[in-house]
Amino acid sequence: MPTINVKEDTPAKSVQIIGNVTKDVYLRMDNRTNSFETDQNNIKWLDISFDGSHHRYFSRVSIYGGASISLEVLSRFGIDANISGTPAVFLDGQFIAKDTHTTYRYILCQDDNTSHLEPSEPNYTSWKAPAKAPDWLYLDSSAYISPSLSSEILAYLETNSNTNFAFAISSHSNPSASHIAALLKRADIIVSAKKLPEEREYIRVTKNEIQYLDQRVSWAIDKHDLFTHLSAFSTIAASLVGALILDKDAPEALLIARANIQKSKLGSTSNLATLERTIADDYYRTEKINKEASKMSEIEENAKKLVAAGKGILAADESGGSIHKKFESMNIPDDEQHRRDYRNIFFTTPELEKYVNGVILFDETARQTADNGQTFVQFLQDRGIIPGIKVDQGLVNFDNSDEKYTQGLDGLADRLKEYYAMGARFAKWRAAFELTDHSPSDMAIQKNCEILASYAKECQAANIVPIVEPELVYDGDYTIEQNAACTGKILKCLFQELAKQQVNLAGCILKVNMILAGKRQATQSTPDEVGAATAKVLRENVPAELAGVVFLSGGQSVVQATDNLQAVTNNGPFPWPVTFSYARALQDPALQAWQGDNANADAARSAFHERLVANANALIRHAN
Ligand code: 13P
Repeated sequence: MPTINVKEDTPAKSVQIIGNVTKDVYLRMDNRTNSFETDQNNIKWLDISFDGSHHRYFSRVSIYGGASISLEVLSRFGIDANISGTPAVFLDGQFIAKDTHTTYRYILCQDDNTSHLEPSEPNYTSWKAPAKAPDWLYLDSSAYISPSLSSEILAYLETNSNTNFAFAISSHSNPSASHIAALLKRADIIVSAKKLPEEREYIRVTKNEIQYLDQRVSWAIDKHDLFTHLSAFSTIAASLVGALILDKDAPEALLIARANIQKSKLGSTSNLATLERTIADDYYRTEKINKEASKMSEIEENAKKLVAAGKGILAADESGGSIHKKFESMNIPDDEQHRRDYRNIFFTTPELEKYVNGVILFDETARQTADNGQTFVQFLQDRGIIPGIKVDQGLVNFDNSDEKYTQGLDGLADRLKEYYAMGARFAKWRAAFELTDHSPSDMAIQKNCEILASYAKECQAANIVPIVEPELVYDGDYTIEQNAACTGKILKCLFQELAKQQVNLAGCILKVNMILAGKRQATQSTPDEVGAATAKVLRENVPAELAGVVFLSGGQSVVQATDNLQAVTNNGPFPWPVTFSYARALQDPALQAWQGDNANADAARSAFHERLVANANALIRHAN
């Protein structure tokens, strides 16, 4: 008889966390209605006068922070963790607090900067000696460390010599205070946000690096994922402690911690198996420890800027043919001067940079000059607006078919190189589908998505952010359900093709139609229907890694485009920023006001300004 070796399951490592659970309320401040000043050190100031004035925020999210972050991270690592003196647990992927004595913190966010409001009386950290000695005590960075807490912990460790001690020291603590120094002296693992005296070996976490002896990995948060410097530090520190407790060596622990902060969102960090797979994949393997700081790539940074909160993108890139039709219908001469003057109105509109992150140009416009002699590209850059360029070359019919594909791949690499040198940092490519009883066919969807993915790949190789635009045209006789099914199918195919061609989604933006009944349907969709259906289709088909989603207006009336945008916003928040990238719905009233006569330029600017304000306001979520 063969002998069977029955291996006993090793019990999970146990950790008693000592720290404070906080309830963090994040208010993303609206920089259009609040007056921010930037001082000479580039620090933003919010001027709050206590005179009954109003201040507005885009969104409010509250989430548990402090010690609950360590509880979550360690639990997801398979460690049996609990918080001393706090009946809180991490169960089925959720932090559950029972009668937790929490501290409320208010976190005011402006772009990537934050400021904290905390109670002036510290919330003393509770400590209760555990009934059964744990493998580790973990003094979390949220703890308020009084001299008596320090003595109690040290006394406990003295009598329970099998219990190890990990200490995460925040930037608020004073490492030379004697009660803190005593804890540092006893600690088996130290993670510190501060530089500590030389004699101790410790892991240092700065705002962009994790360092241990001569090893260092860089980290950056590349999404709108609620991490502030405090919660990022808690996540990194708990990941390091968890990995080391589980006997990972230091280089691996550094990579695991970096993967957790970069991959995860606050309140949904990753489990250890996922992180181990992440650090095993090519991107992380080739990104060696000790290498120069790995910065977020240029395209990822620009993609993030293009969809930064509260602003949209102006599509001023109508091709020669489209402009011709517009001008002809209003008896405006279609010559180069008039086309320049028309675009000049938009680019010189006061406060444009307050409402748009980027402007998409047509090739001709990118080469034209502003009144001050700069190219329009430079002119926009100087206003703090990212210039982009339409690079597709229009639609052509498939052989023997009334369906179309988009051309322009020939010579694209060279054109992108030139556009980059001119200053363009993003591009747009539009594929169009008509929804009828026989279209779009699977073939047309497949082919156009392949082309979109090839274009996106070429853009990223040229350091240009691709906007991929598959548009289901509004002009049709279809129901909202038919639109949802068809757009869903197109998006599914598009993201499959983007994955096949290894397009980096964090450096890519989707421009898409809203989900609504076709223009020729007798009953038009209400904003509530559009908001709910659009949110559903996007959530079902758009991967979370994508940098952002922007909408085209597609021939909706200006009011309809704004109301529907508001309805989509109200269905948020989404895993990606969502905003507008309209042409017609932003520009048409200005064209009507201008009439081809520069004497009307100011009236045109104010008509445009009005649409900018209305659409930016539609990005502010109202609770339903
Ligand atoms: P509309 O907003 O007029 O649909 O234009 C957006 C666009 O850029 C289409 O490619």
